[in-house]
Amino acid sequence: MDCRGLAFSAASPVAPKFSRHVVPSYRKTHSIRSSITASVDEPLLIRAARRQPVSRPPVWLMRQAGRYMEAFRQYSDRHPFRHRSESPHIAVELSLQPFKEFATDAVIMFSDILTPLPALGSQFDIIPGKGPIIQEPVRSGEHIRRLTQHSFRPQESLPFIAEILSSLQSYLRPHPDVALLGFIAAPFTLAAYLIEGRTVKNTAHVKRFMYSNSAEANAVDLHALLDRLSDVLAQYAIYQIDAGAQAIQVFDSWAHHLSPDQYTKFSLPYVAKLVRKVKSSRPNAVVIFFANGCAGKLADISDHLSACTDVIGIDWSVRMQDARKELGPDIVLQGNVDPAILSCGNGQAIRDAVRNTIAQAGDRLILNLGHGVIKETPEASVRQFVDEAKSMSFVQVP
Ligand code: CP3
Repeated sequence: MDCRGLAFSAASPVAPKFSRHVVPSYRKTHSIRSSITASVDEPLLIRAARRQPVSRPPVWLMRQAGRYMEAFRQYSDRHPFRHRSESPHIAVELSLQPFKEFATDAVIMFSDILTPLPALGSQFDIIPGKGPIIQEPVRSGEHIRRLTQHSFRPQESLPFIAEILSSLQSYLRPHPDVALLGFIAAPFTLAAYLIEGRTVKNTAHVKRFMYSNSAEANAVDLHALLDRLSDVLAQYAIYQIDAGAQAIQVFDSWAHHLSPDQYTKFSLPYVAKLVRKVKSSRPNAVVIFFANGCAGKLADISDHLSACTDVIGIDWSVRMQDARKELGPDIVLQGNVDPAILSCGNGQAIRDAVRNTIAQAGDRLILNLGHGVIKETPEASVRQFVDEAKSMSFVQVP
């Protein structure tokens, strides 16, 4: 067993404690993932996700393309969201902006978790100042039956996704160390957007489906929707992989709306079904799962997903060392710096946050934020975040 520790290239002002139990070693495991033979020239993030030894943590940021960037605002001020995300030449340019500016270890395609909805028969828009709006929110079993019977043919309805990914793949050919990421929503999060119709404080309409007088009949409808979405989203993920995505991140952004019991009933089984489907047909693709609001749900996430998911994203409300304890030494973690440290913290705060995260998670880590970049974040803070990660190196403990 090789016992590894962390060394920092610069003197650390926070002097992170390198207790050996939070610094995992590379162990052989017998799961779906271990059957993969990785090629030597795969990107750093992909090698890290496959639990191969890496010299430093790969780094990227959730929602790294966005309005905090001046170059992005030149497009977002002029073109509506759907035009930007569905016109390949614009989406490619926006996807590449953070890579060109900050040299992140991953490029994530510029798109949205709601983008596949029109291909399922539901229209949406993203309105400045309001966010996503679903034209006809789902409020009845009848509507769910209509949706679940709708065909889903991404090649025909979402051709721009394959164009965006294959253009990005070509662009990245001279950068073999940089990973190309696709993404999808988790079935529960997409179902909740479909039902609520917009971003909400309380998911009252979703809870009504779970708990109203005729709860049983309604829950059957909700499960039917979730089941259909898990199939459709697996198909959509495979479509992205075939177009060039090397990893797929599954965003369960509305996990925080569910109690742990609700979460094990209405979200995790459908994520597990989806991930197993993707892994069984595209075993080489890496799957990253992120639940916003994972505190109190990590043991359940581990039960359902640790055998089939490569990386578990951790939001910023959980200590990385607690996530490591809960999920064990083997799994690769992603996260989890508080995005507000980048939007309002100074250089010292960013440096400390990066170092503490690495010290707590150990060397099976993809450094990221614990949720998306905040609009007010200075670009210089993102640059420092990336540079800090890149200045780290994992070394053997003698
Ligand atoms: O990470 C990246 O750089 C890729 C871009 C990306 C977008 N949306 C672009 C976008 C990704 C990964 C998403 C996923 C997404 N979309 C999530 C999951 C991530 C998370 O935050 O939990 C969610 C919940 C959505 C739904 C959504 N789309 C919301 C709530 C909003 C409004 C946010 C706001 O600030 O108004 C959007 C719009 C959206 N999607 C924007 C961007 C850059 C901002 C609006 C714009 O550019 O016009």
